[in-house]
Amino acid sequence: MTDKTNVNDKTDAKVPLVELNNLEMNFYKSKGMFRKPQELNALHNINLKIHNGEIVVVVGESGSGKTTLANVIAGLLTPVSGTYKFKGKEIHSMTKEEANVYRSSIQVVQQDSYAALNPMRTMIKSLGDPMLLKKYATKDNLLEKVNEVLEAVDLTPTEHFINKYPHQMSGGQRQRALIARALSMNPELILADEPVSMIDVSLRVSILNLLARLNEERNIAILYITHDLATARYVGKNGRIAVMYLGEIVETGDLQEVLSNPQHPYLRALLTAVPIPNPRLSRKRKELQLNASSELPDISNMPSGC
Ligand SMILES: Nc1ncnc2c1ncn2[C@@H]1O[C@H](COP(=O)(O)OP(=O)(O)OP(=O)(O)O)[C@@H](O)[C@H]1O
Ligand SMILES: [Mg+2]
Repeated sequence: MTDKTNVNDKTDAKVPLVELNNLEMNFYKSKGMFRKPQELNALHNINLKIHNGEIVVVVGESGSGKTTLANVIAGLLTPVSGTYKFKGKEIHSMTKEEANVYRSSIQVVQQDSYAALNPMRTMIKSLGDPMLLKKYATKDNLLEKVNEVLEAVDLTPTEHFINKYPHQMSGGQRQRALIARALSMNPELILADEPVSMIDVSLRVSILNLLARLNEERNIAILYITHDLATARYVGKNGRIAVMYLGEIVETGDLQEVLSNPQHPYLRALLTAVPIPNPRLSRKRKELQLNASSELPDISNMPSGC
């Protein structure tokens, strides 16, 4: 097993786990055989730091670039320009061993657990094979190690789940299995991309509490991606927020401070869209006039201004 504390010499707590500077990411959309593909600037001038054990919430509407940002941080997409440092080291200049540590230190928990888990594999295979591959377990202690991660995400009694296929589990249980798979890689950062948007409302809080517990007990940093301000407030109550709009981070800071004094029109509109249960307070609230169009602005057809 690789020791994450020794691989990188800059494990100083002040050095951010992740540091993105002036990062740009483009996609190219085909316009037909004889036409130049259209360039989509999915991430523009992204500057973001994530420190050890920190919770950062990324809020933004559909298409604003949240998943693209997570994929860049996880190393699944390569930005076209800008710098990306993991523990102070530029990821392009890492040795093979450092790159391996970086990749297992950052784990993604996707929105769609059904798509993220192989339907032909039981839990012991889905969780165990990556652990064997990365040498976090041996054939001798595999069962014990898989039981440990299942227990950590409350999939208990573990013998009840170990031989189950994804379709034999509920949405909430599958989401826990995804978190277990992330956990099995000993991560320092979990990128949770809308992890509760596809599961029953009644189960959402328990999954969010599980992420909070992993953050508190294991000091795992969490980047929580959502378009829902209610869960953003819940997860990020002691953390930071980054508000994304059309590929840019338009507002960032301490979550409580940013939400109590929002500056960007998108965030103000988002906050006024949340109903207030008290009619007296609700009448006092100044409504923000939104564009009459029901269409969301799109990076492929940028509106002017904000
Ligand atoms: N592989 C790709 N190829 C081309 N365009 C892409 C690709 N992935 C994303 N995009 C475009 O980049 C923009 C940002 O997409 P992204 O999936 O990051 O948004 P998002 O904020 O995660 O949205 P949602 O809330 O719907 O998940 C969108 O306009 C999307 O169409
Ligand atoms: Mg997304």
